Amino acid sequence: MEDRDLDAIVATCRDPETIRWTTVPDPYQRDHAEGFKRDFAEAAWARGTGAYFTIADADDRYLGSVDLRVAAGDPLRGDVGFMTAPHARGRGYLPAALVALTTWGFTTLGLARVEWRALVGNTASRRVAEKAGFAFEGTARGALATRDGRGDTWVAALLAEDLT
Ligand SMILES: CC(C)(COP(=O)(O)OP(=O)(O)OC[C@H]1O[C@@H](n2cnc3c(N)ncnc32)[C@H](O)[C@@H]1OP(=O)(O)O)[C@@H](O)C(=O)NCCC(=O)NCCS
Repeated sequence: MEDRDLDAIVATCRDPETIRWTTVPDPYQRDHAEGFKRDFAEAAWARGTGAYFTIADADDRYLGSVDLRVAAGDPLRGDVGFMTAPHARGRGYLPAALVALTTWGFTTLGLARVEWRALVGNTASRRVAEKAGFAFEGTARGALATRDGRGDTWVAALLAEDLT
């Protein structure tokens, strides 16, 4: 994630589908993107607790974001998060990025399990996880914070042995 990505990140975080399915601040301002880059992404990279990547096209234009966070208290488990710029959706960018990210997590970071969670009904996100090889495990009740309280959550996971 670089400063040149911030305007596109702001636009993606203002998209109705991003607002609906994530907990990005609403209304999303450039300050939010700057704070996220500095206080979450760069801080996590520095601590070794998370990896935040931009997906870009051949001309280095922003297509989306994907991140892998190591679970607090369990260095062998990671959680993924992602969003695609509205104009770039439906082209398979996120499944491809997620395969690359999880492969890196297993081979370089030595993770044993990577989890995907999404609010029940986020079918586009679930398709991304399925296409990246995640196995659906079920619904965890009230497992994610939402703007209104807590939401039931689909859970899927990919294990290191799934790659072999
Ligand atoms: C979920 C999301 C990241 C998918 O990324 P993507 O790069 O479009 O992924 P894909 O191209 O594989 O498309 C995934 C699914 O999106 C749906 N889709 C296809 N074209 C689409 C479009 N133009 N707009 C929206 N969704 C579309 C389809 O259901 C597709 O599944 P299919 O391949 O079985 O038809 C993207 O829709 C997004 O940013 N959503 C808002 C943020 C979000 O929900 N993040 C995940 C939180 S858990």
